[in-house]
Amino acid sequence: MADKAKIAILLSGRGSNMAAMVYAAKLPDCPFEIVLVASNDLKAPGLKLAEAESIATFAHSHKGLTREAHDIIMHDAIVRSGAEYVVLAGYMRILSDGFVRKWADHMLNIHPSLLPKYKGLDTYQRAIDAGDDVAGCSVHLVTPELDDGPILAQTEVAILPDDDADSLASRILIAEHQLYPSTLAKYVTREADPDWILGQVRQRALALAETHERPSFGAPGWRVGSKTTGKYFAYLAQSHHGEASIALLVKTTGLDEQAALIDADPDLYYIPKFYGKSGWIAIRLDTGRTDWDHISDRLYASWRQVAPKRLTKMIAIADQF
Ligand code: GAR
Repeated sequence: MADKAKIAILLSGRGSNMAAMVYAAKLPDCPFEIVLVASNDLKAPGLKLAEAESIATFAHSHKGLTREAHDIIMHDAIVRSGAEYVVLAGYMRILSDGFVRKWADHMLNIHPSLLPKYKGLDTYQRAIDAGDDVAGCSVHLVTPELDDGPILAQTEVAILPDDDADSLASRILIAEHQLYPSTLAKYVTREADPDWILGQVRQRALALAETHERPSFGAPGWRVGSKTTGKYFAYLAQSHHGEASIALLVKTTGLDEQAALIDADPDLYYIPKFYGKSGWIAIRLDTGRTDWDHISDRLYASWRQVAPKRLTKMIAIADQF
């Protein structure tokens, strides 16, 4: 298995979600490890459990500090731990925009409601008072707006006729403990998920002018020009011709550029099977460290090779200035 993703957990209290993460991380195939448990409350019970499990802990009270100053202290501790992701588990602090920006797409939160319903506090009573049949929990990416980022996964929990906030909360908590570790595992391995990779390529290929998608011998492919006379500028090869890897196939300017790329990074580029001396090159997308800006650039360069003159003419003129 590739290196495990390193996780810092922030909490303010009990830490039962942290415990669920810690025990999930002990399973042999878990793709993440917990490298730090940090708190704004020196007495948070969750810290004791983490210590007992030999996980590094850090605590720094927010009292007397501005939000920004406290967040910088937490951020520094997280960076020192080597963590690549921040997982909020009952961290009852609103985070500064600066902190959220630093961890954009790398910070997850769990919230005890079916978002976008019932952001903020008192979620259980609000669901009961509204007469809802179901409540639940959501794992989402953290953005500056409270409880508002893209939802990664949710679990519904039935509301019973005699539920009060406490009884409902305790059942939702069981669902949280299932949902959070499995969603985190999926998220940290997303770059190896063929569907995620296809989505990333598709979005970039179709952002170019006059493009459409058309499968070619079962592989997703993208063409420029009209639906009838369009030409392929990209394919996604997925063990297609027996290759072990997932790769993007794009056109270079010719054999010289193809050779130069392979020379520069033979782990990333290779000559795709059955494309002969045509200047097509394969770029691996399953290394877990894909530079997606580079992929956008290569898609554009390939698009330019085959796009109709009327589309490239304007670009060629603009390039002269
Ligand atoms: C959990 O129920 C979590 O969903 C909630 O705090 C509890 C923490 O419990 N989080 C929020 O309300 C965030 N807005 P825990 O400390 O036992 O994990």
